[in-house]
Amino acid sequence: LIWGKLPTSEELNHFSNLLTKNEMLHEDMKFHFEGFPTNAHPMAILSSMINAAGCFVPQVLKPMNELFVIQVARLMSQVRTIAAFSYRKSLGLPIIYPKPTYKYSANLLHMMFSEPYQDYELLPEVVQALDLIFLLHADHEQNCSTSTVRMVASSQANLFACAAAGVCALWGRLHGGANQAVLEMLEAIHKEGDNGSKFIEQAKDKKSGKKLMGFGHRVYKNYDPRATIIKKKCDQLLTALNKQDPLLDIAKRLEEAALNDSYFLERKLYPNVDFYSGIIMRAIGIPLDMFTVMFAIGRMPGWIANYKEILDDKEARIYRPRQIYDGPTENHYVPIDERAE
Ligand code: ACO
Repeated sequence: LIWGKLPTSEELNHFSNLLTKNEMLHEDMKFHFEGFPTNAHPMAILSSMINAAGCFVPQVLKPMNELFVIQVARLMSQVRTIAAFSYRKSLGLPIIYPKPTYKYSANLLHMMFSEPYQDYELLPEVVQALDLIFLLHADHEQNCSTSTVRMVASSQANLFACAAAGVCALWGRLHGGANQAVLEMLEAIHKEGDNGSKFIEQAKDKKSGKKLMGFGHRVYKNYDPRATIIKKKCDQLLTALNKQDPLLDIAKRLEEAALNDSYFLERKLYPNVDFYSGIIMRAIGIPLDMFTVMFAIGRMPGWIANYKEILDDKEARIYRPRQIYDGPTENHYVPIDERAE
C-alpha cells in the first residue's frame, strides 16, 4: 500500500525487523498515560499518544527523507503498543511489553491479554481473524479520516500529527465509531428482548434521530464486500471457539428484516464493514470501547500511503476548500450593554 508494490523477501524481512525494532515506546511515554483519567476513551488516548510519540523522533519534523521508512515502521508498530497500553491502563493492570518473536497481531493480543505471570494462549483462529480485520480495514479511498489525513498532510505537517488527526476523524459514530455503535445497538435490542423491528421502525423515522448503525455507505450502493467476508469469518470464528453469540443472531435477523424493507431497498442501504466486525472482536475478548482503536490500527498503512502520496507530489498545493457564504451580509457592531439577552 505504501510503496505501491509487493515487497521482495529481502524488503519484507527488513520491514518486519524494523517493526520489531521500533515496537517499544520511549519509557517517558509511560508518564503520559498516567495523565489520563481511567475512564478516558481509548481513541482520545490514541490520538494524543501518537502525537506525543512523534515528539520522541526529531526526524519527523523533516518530512519525506531517507528515514521515512523508519518513521513508518515506528508509527505502525507503536500504534499497536499504545493501543495495548491504553487498554491495560483503563483496567489498572500492569503494562505488558511487546515480544519481539511475535508477529503483528499476535503481539497485540499478547500485550493486551497476557499477565506478568502467564502468557496469553494464542489461538491461530483468533490471530487470523484479527489479521483479517486489519487487512480489510487497511485503506478505502477518500473516506472522512483519510481525507482528513490528506488535508493535514497538505500543509506538510509531520506524519505523526497527520495520523493523530486521522484517529480523531475516525472516532465519530458515522465513520469508524460505528463499530462500537453497532454493538451498543445489538446489546440494547438483546436487553429489551425486541426482535429488532422496533429499531428498524425508529431508524426509518427521521424524527427519532436514530439510524440503523452499520448500514449504509456513501459509495457502496449494494452490499459492502468487506461485510460479506467479515460475516463469514464471524460464523467460522464462533464455531472454532465453540461459542454462541446471541448478538450475531440478532444482527442476522436485523439484516434480513432490513433487506426486505422498502425503506432500505429504495435507499440502497446494506450492511457496511462495521456491521459484523464487532461480533468478531467481542468473540476475541476485545472490549467495546477498543473497537474503533482496532479500526485505527488497521487503517494506519492506508493513512500513511495517502500521506506519502501528498508529500511525494512535487506539484501538490495546500488544500484550501472554498466556501460560498450564504449568511447575513450586514451585521453591525452592537455595544455589549445594548445587546438583547
Ligand atoms: N439507517 C437509516 N437510514 C439511513 C441510514 C441508516 N443507517 N443511512 C442512510 N439512511 C437514509 C438517510 O436518512 C437518507 O434518507 P432520505 O433520502 O430519506 O433523506 C438516505 O438514507 C441517504 O443517506 P445519506 O445520509 O444521504 O447517506 P450518506 O452517504 O450521507 O451517509 C453514512 C453514509 C454516514 C454511512 C450513513 O449511511 C450512516 O449514517 N450510516 C450509519 C452509520 C455507519 O454505519 N457508519 C459507518 C460507515 S462505513 C465507515 O465509515 C467505515
